[in-house]
Amino acid sequence: MSVDQSGLPSLLPRHVAIIMDGNGRWAQRRGLARVEGHRQGAQSVRKVVRAAREVGLRALTLYAFSAQNWARPPEEVGTLMQLLRDFLIEERPEIMDNAIRLTTIGDVDRMPDFVRDPLEALMRDSAGNRAMTLCLALSYGGRESIISTTRALCELAARGALKPADVNDERFSAMLQTGGMPQLDLLVRTSGEVRLSNFLLWEAAYAELYFTDTLWPDFGKEEFLHALESFKGRERRYGRTREQIKAVG
Ligand code: FPP
Repeated sequence: MSVDQSGLPSLLPRHVAIIMDGNGRWAQRRGLARVEGHRQGAQSVRKVVRAAREVGLRALTLYAFSAQNWARPPEEVGTLMQLLRDFLIEERPEIMDNAIRLTTIGDVDRMPDFVRDPLEALMRDSAGNRAMTLCLALSYGGRESIISTTRALCELAARGALKPADVNDERFSAMLQTGGMPQLDLLVRTSGEVRLSNFLLWEAAYAELYFTDTLWPDFGKEEFLHALESFKGRERRYGRTREQIKAVG
């Protein structure tokens, strides 16, 4: 049985994050425009959010748009923004009915108003929901988030509100935008690529990793449950030995 940092059984991950990759290839293999892959990918988002809530995850973080994705062709960026807006409007009743709290990480100020308006309204209205947190990474970069946290700590130190010697793992983690979330247990990436692509670099330090060849538009409840199942078999040691972990458990 796997154990968490406190030695308790951790059959179900509390916090899962997903790099939803392969939309473009899914479309190209069918002779379709890349944006059709994103459209189908948005359906996978709906299925996976529903499944996450059903099984009782505490938090799900989705890499919906990276800081680097702004460099994609303008029509592709435009379609992704439209899909995000559609998701926020169409899924609002289900999110509220299921007590899901919507949050974001990333430079959300860069998102256009037609996305930010329904986003901010849903974040505000769902703030008291407690069953699960759905966090959308929007205009997000892991390095960018580490830099902005470092800058905030430096500013505190420059004002005399913090001693450099008091900067530690715990304080740094708390200052990140993910600070209020459970620690990341499982990071999933679809489409056969085996890299982090600037996603949750700090938070993934002790996460279990799950890579699958399935393209994101083909990823649904069944494979999501399979990823959760594979987590059950992992032994999380946090740098300790197997014998130490067994003694704690
Ligand atoms: C990567 O596939 C995927 C993205 C850059 C965007 C993810 C967006 C969605 C799944 C839809 C909208 C999101 C929500 C939350 C409703 P890719 O285009 O890089 O695929 P490729 O590597 O095959 O080209």
